[in-house]
Amino acid sequence: MKRIVLLASGSGSNVENIANYFKDNSKVTIAAVFTNKRDAKVLDRCNRLNISALYFNKQSFFKSDCLLNIIKGMEPDLIVLAGFLLKIPENFVVAFPNKIVNIHPALLPKYGGKGMYGMYVHNAIKSNNETETGITIHYVNENYDEGAIIYQVKTVVSNTDTPEDIAQKVHILEYDHFPKVIDQLLSN
Ligand code: GAR
Repeated sequence: MKRIVLLASGSGSNVENIANYFKDNSKVTIAAVFTNKRDAKVLDRCNRLNISALYFNKQSFFKSDCLLNIIKGMEPDLIVLAGFLLKIPENFVVAFPNKIVNIHPALLPKYGGKGMYGMYVHNAIKSNNETETGITIHYVNENYDEGAIIYQVKTVVSNTDTPEDIAQKVHILEYDHFPKVIDQLLSN
């Protein structure tokens, strides 16, 4: 059995999509979902989906090995960041080399780094009149959005697209590709 641990900070639509993708797969299980936001919608989703989900505070993440030890105990094959907005501390990067993957809603290295997440990315794409955007799935290292790229796919941005339209196009790519890439990584 392959075990996935997910970290999410917000709505969790990717978490739900990943859970649905693997729900009939007897070889892959979602061990748990962790969130740094007490009121994150992902907690309601997990409750509805019957997935164990827990809130943790920043202290336990950045100033101790508390969360790290809990996750280590779950023996994950992959730790998946699905809309997770905190920087991953070094103790995690060292403990799980090439086992933490993130999805970023743009074509890295463009539009990455601190403060570049969610609608901030799509607003910037619009302001700069970009003609394309996409998703990047990458390994996580100690720097924001700088780990080795595993997979990228593009979509066209037209000049009539609003930032919300761009977000929707990117979400479609995420739902389509992220679970498949995770599946692939788990079978390697
Ligand atoms: C996703 O679009 C993901 O790519 C992005 O947050 C969104 C979360 O949506 N992640 C980042 O911006 C990370 N820098 P969701 O909570 O509905 O899955």
